[in-house]
Amino acid sequence: MGIKILGIGSYVPEKVLSNADLEKMVDTSDEWIKSRTGIEQRRIASDEQATSDLAYEASLEALKAANLKAEDIDVIIVASISVDHVFPSTACILQDKLGAAKAFCFDLEAACSGLLYSLEVANSLLLGNPKYKKVLIVGAEKLSSIVNWEDRNTCVLFGDGAGALILGKCEDTAENCIIASDLGADGSYANILQMPAGGSRLPASAETVANKQHFLTMSGGDVFKLAVNAMVRSCKKVLEEAGLTGDDIKWLVPHQANYRILRAVASRLKIPEDEVYMNVSRFGNTSAASIGLCLDEIAKGNKAEKGDYILLTAFGGGLTWGAMLVKW
Ligand code: COA
Repeated sequence: MGIKILGIGSYVPEKVLSNADLEKMVDTSDEWIKSRTGIEQRRIASDEQATSDLAYEASLEALKAANLKAEDIDVIIVASISVDHVFPSTACILQDKLGAAKAFCFDLEAACSGLLYSLEVANSLLLGNPKYKKVLIVGAEKLSSIVNWEDRNTCVLFGDGAGALILGKCEDTAENCIIASDLGADGSYANILQMPAGGSRLPASAETVANKQHFLTMSGGDVFKLAVNAMVRSCKKVLEEAGLTGDDIKWLVPHQANYRILRAVASRLKIPEDEVYMNVSRFGNTSAASIGLCLDEIAKGNKAEKGDYILLTAFGGGLTWGAMLVKW
């Protein structure tokens, strides 16, 4: 018995925010953003769209690709740091929109590593319990709603979008798609990437709003170093566990934080740059959505063949990180 990816879908909002647009909003330049991050544009959701709306569009595509109905889904997991509400979960809101009446639903908060964490949970649920046959996981973010648009250190980096995967079981273990995984966390670095207020530590008040504590804050330099080290370590572990090297990989699909981080990870794994899947120039950092957006482009563009090895890796607030080796 193994698990299989039955369908993939993605969605990005129509509105494009270019570096030139940002030049009019904060003291920055297209040249600075491109040279530091590789980002040229990002998508921004409309005022009417919440994270569940982005997740809904991506899920419809994934259901179509899997040739399944919403009623076939047993579990819905939404990974996000920009949920519709603190509660109820965005997964419950998505369940209602889809009409996935029999699914049990929960949100998973692991920041940019959310899709990898969700894959691991889905894998365990499917393999561990005969009751669960189809799991929908969605990485979805409306980061534009938690970005401080007056802070040039962060506002140039992020974008909105959603990526969805449907996972199911397969009898033939040769078809199994999750070959190896390594996930980790280190809460002692919680404060280098966070939203300070709005939870029980610092509930919303006029003061927290005035102090702009409901926006994402980040210590960019620290994140950079920790991200590269953690992703390289995790990738090496899963390659070793599978008895493979960077040469065996068709694509390295890293969380799309910025192209310098991605290049540094690839170089330390001795994976050539043209085997690193990158769309950060078009979408920016979409946190939990980014790996799903990449996988959907790979699927739709026929950029991988059955049996190819794809190495996923991510890093994010928490801190959280991980790597997963997937057989296409
Ligand atoms: N436009 C122009 N200048 C900017 C800027 C912007 N958008 N944002 C920051 N700067 C300035 C800073 O104010 C600072 O100025 P100072 O030296 O006068 O104080 C300077 O640029 C910092 O430059 P530098 O040290 O060269 O930046 P960097 O090479 O470290 O790049 C990041 C900054 C944020 C791009 C980089 O640290 C990074 O990518 N970090 C990881 C971020 C990330 O991916 N987070 C999510 C992880 S999931």
